[in-house]
Amino acid sequence: MQDLRDKVAFVTGGASGIGIGLARALLAEGMRVAVADVRAGALDAAVEPLIAAGAKLLPMQLDVTDRRAWRAAAERVSRQLGSVQLLCSNAGVNFIGPTQQATFEDWDFCLGVNLGGAINAVRTFVPAMLAHGQGGHVVVTASVAGLFAGSASGCYATSKFALVGLAESLRADLAAHAVGVSVLCPGPVQSELFESTAAVRPSALAATGSVPVIPAGVRREETPIFATALTPEEVGRLVVRGIRRNDLYILTHAEIRPMLEARAAALLASLPAGPVDPQRIAAQARLLDASLYEEQAAKSPPGAD
Ligand code: NAI
Repeated sequence: MQDLRDKVAFVTGGASGIGIGLARALLAEGMRVAVADVRAGALDAAVEPLIAAGAKLLPMQLDVTDRRAWRAAAERVSRQLGSVQLLCSNAGVNFIGPTQQATFEDWDFCLGVNLGGAINAVRTFVPAMLAHGQGGHVVVTASVAGLFAGSASGCYATSKFALVGLAESLRADLAAHAVGVSVLCPGPVQSELFESTAAVRPSALAATGSVPVIPAGVRREETPIFATALTPEEVGRLVVRGIRRNDLYILTHAEIRPMLEARAAALLASLPAGPVDPQRIAAQARLLDASLYEEQAAKSPPGAD
């Protein structure tokens, strides 16, 4: 999608952080933007200054796990703004804790919002995008935690690895339909993620799965990770560039290179020794089609073009 002006975007998780940064960046491109979030009060507070400044913005309360509400949201945005050409599935939750201590309910909560919410978004909007035939783009917010794993983030990393798989598969399937797909994998970004997760997390889960992220008495803004994090506005601009370039991955932090290299090296080092069977390659042509990755690898790095 090159020309964003007057097109319609639907952004989830837009009450704060990356979602509202994305909405601002898309509005700056002249788009009409529906911004959805489960936290109605926070959403109102976030969009109020934008609407006061004349933005073409439609706020709507939506729980991304609620499939019936998705249908109603899609009808409303189409009625009030028109057909959606850009879907940004961004709502998410995160909590830190040893993987083995997460309860079934912790898993259901995290996977339900992060993965289930994105599945609901894709299922709601992508068939309509194909039907209106105007082309479009889907951005799925995963994380660097969808590219490599660390300790104490089992539920989150599982959901984010799954989102990378969802986005890559969807891109392969939509390649012939003029609908691009990008997966946004940010490193640290200034946001309300741990606070918003605490606000939407069922109270029955308060005592399980999660350990405090920030030591008691320390403000989020005082932590080194926050001080060096990107702003949501910076991420919003990177996403606009990624959409225009139709990038498969939208990465935000060059610092992750050693992790990507180490993971790729570990995978390659784990291949069984022995001859490669050309007949097996031919028989698995659909599975062993690397064009999705080769196309991205052949592009100039973002920012160098
Ligand atoms: P945020 O807390 O500012 O935004 C997340 C939003 O999702 C919140 O407004 C929250 O109310 C909303 N949300 C949660 N459950 C929902 C539900 N069931 N239905 C609708 N909305 C719901 O945090 P942030 O960081 O901006 O998060 C946005 C996305 O970025 C998430 O998917 C997160 O996993 C991802 N991310 C964030 C990073 C960071 O460092 N902040 C790094 C990598 C990925």
